[in-house]
Amino acid sequence: MAILTPSRVDLRTLANVPVQRAASQVSWEISADGKGVYDHYMLKEIYEQPESVENTIRGRLNFKAGNAVLSGLNLTPREMAQINRIVVAACGSSFHAGLVGSYYFEDIAGIPASVEQAAEFRYRNPIIEPNTLVLPISQSGETADTLAAVREAVNKGAIVAALCNVVGSTIARESGRGIYLHAGPEISVASTKAFTCQVTVLLMLALLLGRNRRLNHEWGEILVKEIESIPGLLRQVLEQAPRIEQIAKATAHADDLFYIGRGCLYPAALEGALKLKEISYVHAEGYHAAELKHGPIALLEPSVPVVALCNSIPGKDKMLGNIQECCARRAPIIAIVSGDDDCCDKFTDSIIRVPDSSRFVAPITTVVALQIFAYYFARERGCEIDQPRNLAKSVTVE
Ligand code: G6P
Repeated sequence: MAILTPSRVDLRTLANVPVQRAASQVSWEISADGKGVYDHYMLKEIYEQPESVENTIRGRLNFKAGNAVLSGLNLTPREMAQINRIVVAACGSSFHAGLVGSYYFEDIAGIPASVEQAAEFRYRNPIIEPNTLVLPISQSGETADTLAAVREAVNKGAIVAALCNVVGSTIARESGRGIYLHAGPEISVASTKAFTCQVTVLLMLALLLGRNRRLNHEWGEILVKEIESIPGLLRQVLEQAPRIEQIAKATAHADDLFYIGRGCLYPAALEGALKLKEISYVHAEGYHAAELKHGPIALLEPSVPVVALCNSIPGKDKMLGNIQECCARRAPIIAIVSGDDDCCDKFTDSIIRVPDSSRFVAPITTVVALQIFAYYFARERGCEIDQPRNLAKSVTVE
C-alpha cells in the first residue's frame, strides 16, 4: 500500500507493516493536452507509432557490427550461446507479439521457440531447463497470469528476461533482467503502440541471438537496416489512413469477419481480429489461411467479409489460392497488399496498400493498417473506443 498525503508517502504491506523502498524516477510525461488533436487515445497512440518505435530502437543498433545492443539482457556471449530453447509467456496482444517473435527466433537465430498462453504456463508443467530462455511479454508488467508464469519460470531455474513497457513494474522487477519497450504511456485499453514496439524488440533480440550463432555479418547488416527503416514505413502506412477509413466505413455493417494470414502474418491476422473484437464488439476471427477450409469456410457467405493479408512475402501464391476459395463462396474480400502489387485487383476493390518490406517487418506495418481499420469500423458503429465494455487495461486477476 502507498498512502499519499500532501507531505509524505507512507509504504506498508497489506498486514500494515511499514516498509522502505528506494525511489525510482519514471520519465514518462502524459502530455497536458491529453488526446491533443485526436478524438481518442487509441487514434493518438496509433499515430505515435513511428516515434515510439524510434524510441524503442534508439541506441540499440550497431550498424558497423550488424548487430543489436540490448544491455538490459545482461547475458555474456557465452551465456547467450548456451540458450537452446525460448519459451514466451504472455496474454492478449502481447501473446500475439510473442507468436511473431517465435518465427523470428527460429528463422533468424535458429533457436526452437514456443509461445504459451501465460494462464496455461504453470498448469501444463512446462519443460524448463537451465538453458531455456523464458520471455514474459507484458505492456503493463502487471498481468496476473504472466506474473504467475514468471514466478514458475524463476522457480524452475530458467533464464527469465522480461519485455515490459512500464518501468519498475512487478514483472520487470521479478524477472531481474529484460528489455524495456520505451513505447511511452499507453492509455487506450486496446493495445497498439506497445504491440509494434514488442515486435520490434523481438526482432532485435532474434538478430542479437542470431549474430551470436550462425547469422553472418552481411545478414546482420541487412537486418539492422530493416529495423532502422520501420518508423519510416509506419509513416507511409499512416498516410493510407483516409483510404483505410473509407474501406472500414463501407464494411462496418458486417457482424462477422474473418482475418486470414500465413507465416508471420498469421499472428498479424489474430491481432487484427482481436483489435476489431475489442473495440467494435463485432465477431471477428483470425485464422491461418490454410485452416479456413478445415471448418470455417462453411460460414462464408456474402455477409461475411474476409480480411486477407496478402503481402509480397513467401507463401503469397498460396494466399492467392485461399482468397480464391473465399471468393467462390462470395465472401467480400478486403486485401492487404505490398506497394503497387496488383495481385488482388481481380478479387476486390477494397485494397489496403502497405509499403513493400521483408517478411520480418510485414507483420508490423500490416498490424498498424489493421488497427486503423478497427478504429474507423468501431467509430462508424458509434462504439466507445478507449474504454470498451468489460475490458480492463491491466488484468491483475487470474
Ligand atoms: C488486457 C488488455 C490487452 C493486453 C492484455 C495483456 O487484456 O486489454 O490490450 O494485450 O491485457 O496485457 P499486458 O499488459 O500483459 O501486455
